[in-house]
Amino acid sequence: MRAITVRDREAGITGLTLEDLPHPHAAENDVILRVHAAGFTRGELDWPASWTDRAGRDRTPSVPGHEVSGVVTELGYGTTGLTVGQRVFGLTDWTRDGSLAEYVAVEARNLAPLPADVDHTAAAALPISGLTAWQGLFDHADLVTGQTVLIHGAAGAVGSIAVQLAHEAGARVVGSGRSADRDTVLGLGAHAFLDLEADRWGDIGQVDVVFDVIGGDILDRSAALVRAGGTLVTIAHPPTVRPDDGRALFFVVEPDRARLADLAQRVRDGRLKIRVGEVRPLAEAVAAFTSKQRIAGRTIIRVTEDRG
Ligand SMILES: NC(=O)c1ccc[n+]([C@@H]2O[C@H](COP(=O)([O-])OP(=O)(O)OC[C@H]3O[C@@H](n4cnc5c(N)ncnc54)[C@H](OP(=O)(O)O)[C@@H]3O)[C@@H](O)[C@H]2O)c1
Repeated sequence: MRAITVRDREAGITGLTLEDLPHPHAAENDVILRVHAAGFTRGELDWPASWTDRAGRDRTPSVPGHEVSGVVTELGYGTTGLTVGQRVFGLTDWTRDGSLAEYVAVEARNLAPLPADVDHTAAAALPISGLTAWQGLFDHADLVTGQTVLIHGAAGAVGSIAVQLAHEAGARVVGSGRSADRDTVLGLGAHAFLDLEADRWGDIGQVDVVFDVIGGDILDRSAALVRAGGTLVTIAHPPTVRPDDGRALFFVVEPDRARLADLAQRVRDGRLKIRVGEVRPLAEAVAAFTSKQRIAGRTIIRVTEDRG
């Protein structure tokens, strides 16, 4: 099968290449998917798990990309809950070969059924951003109706979903971003916009939850905005400055089949809009991965044009 690979940790993204690899093997509780669409994270080659298996052993050549939407072609021994021919989407394991390939082996429990009327391209943009937004707001920060949440990077992949989910949950949403992001963020359902380039943080007041995706100075400054008993949650890097009387935490997204199904239902009935900016074939995946061009919305690799 054709796949994007990396072999040399020192070379990083400059070592990405398209090559032929053996068809993946379905281990116990796995399925093999024919990949229709795949998502990747630009910084993922910096993660140790991109180079080693669960036991810490070198696993190169490794295939990047951890979001997939496709069709089940094979079941491993003991695999239950999914069938050959079924449309599914989800997160692939951090320490195994990923989705920038024609086929991928994935643990069945990390995949959810994909409704026939949700396109593979939108589905491949959903697992990391959608689960991260949900887990940050509701599992970690315990956001509830009537609270105020400040979401940094609200026009981005995670932030744009977080704004929509928080709005739907009945929270008051302040979304932040660059000046040019104002209309996008308000259009997603934010009640107010914080222009990080205009630097008028004093207008916001205190909030129950800050959801940060940017880190650095923006994360540090946010601690002071959290009201007593509130939560600062970040996904960029662990916080170093904490609210005086509140929690500060960093987390890494986890697979969740039931939540993925909920998110797909929201896409299906129009409650959740996914921002896909660019769709490219597998032959252009290296160029897409290494591109420095700023694109509004996710880049998705469409591995096959089949409707599926
Ligand atoms: N811990 C986890 O489990 C987890 C999960 C998902 C993602 N992440 C990480 O979270 C980060 C965000 O992910 P994402 O997919 O949402 O990225 P993204 O789509 O690039 O969104 C980030 C948003 O923040 C904006 N932004 C960045 N720096 C800014 C600044 N200094 N001032 C104003 N706006 C700024 C970006 O604007 P521009 O595009 O204009 O720069 C963009 O709108 C990444 O580092 C990613 O690796 C972590």
